Amino acid sequence: MKHFIDIADFNLKQLDAIIRKAKKIKKNPKEFSKKCNNKTLGMIFQKESTRTRVSFNTGFSKMGGHCIELNASSIGFGRRESHEDVIRTLSQYIDILMIRNDDHDIIKYLSSLNVLPIINGLSDYSHPCQILSDLLTLSEKLGKIKKQKICWIGDYNNVLRSLIELQCMYNFKLEVVLPKEILRKNISKIIKNKNLNVTNIIHDGVKNANCVMTDAWVSMGENNSKKRHFKNYQVNKDVMKNASKDAIFMHCLPAHRDEEVSSELLDSKQSVVWEQAQNRMFVQQAIILNLL
Ligand code: CP
Ligand code: NVA
Repeated sequence: MKHFIDIADFNLKQLDAIIRKAKKIKKNPKEFSKKCNNKTLGMIFQKESTRTRVSFNTGFSKMGGHCIELNASSIGFGRRESHEDVIRTLSQYIDILMIRNDDHDIIKYLSSLNVLPIINGLSDYSHPCQILSDLLTLSEKLGKIKKQKICWIGDYNNVLRSLIELQCMYNFKLEVVLPKEILRKNISKIIKNKNLNVTNIIHDGVKNANCVMTDAWVSMGENNSKKRHFKNYQVNKDVMKNASKDAIFMHCLPAHRDEEVSSELLDSKQSVVWEQAQNRMFVQQAIILNLL
């Protein structure tokens, strides 16, 4: 049985095939409108979500399938009964399950039961659906990923870990800019790879980048006190001046305006965040077809 838990679980050929399929779905959605007839997608949310919730639901419905959304607390996921028993029960009714959960190990363990295909819709460790759909956006906006220089400015978090896994696969240039305190704390955890550099100096990281990415300074479930480390790490027009002339700005959203990104940049022509959000749907449709 196949699952979609982390980018690193796949090889380049498999990821390219998902992106090709997503492009086909985007170009000709009608061709895929019956692919999930009589199928049911379940979604368990233990954390808030707008894009993941709506893009999975509409994407699956557009392929003829039916979606059931389960709030982790209303089903007592792991509390009213064990996680395993919930999954085994769901497998009697539904064909595929997306989980957004705080504990990555739980998602991994549940997928190892192999009772139904499971998609990681964000965990404390990673956000593979986001980064794979960002690959589609990057390829549409900039062309071949291998030729790009991407600069991440912000936290060492779930989205960045998936981005690093993607970098290890495609070997594009990746500059990771983390505030000194965050860098010190995480440097030993960051994989050493060719074309992957880590710094705390924005100016060095962003130089000639084709794409600058950021994300919330404090991820869901984390303590707000972390924010103090990021005061000089906002991505704004001044930061973008040192990037390549046609550089794009990306953010998985939700954005905290005038914290990690200035409103001016988020609303500018350099920002591709809305198309980025839209592409979530096509890539997730392709992931689902791949798993089913
Ligand atoms: N980017 C993303 O996953 O958005 P949501 O948290 O709103 O689903
Ligand atoms: N790093 C963010 C991503 C939200 C889509 C979080 O986990 O809250």
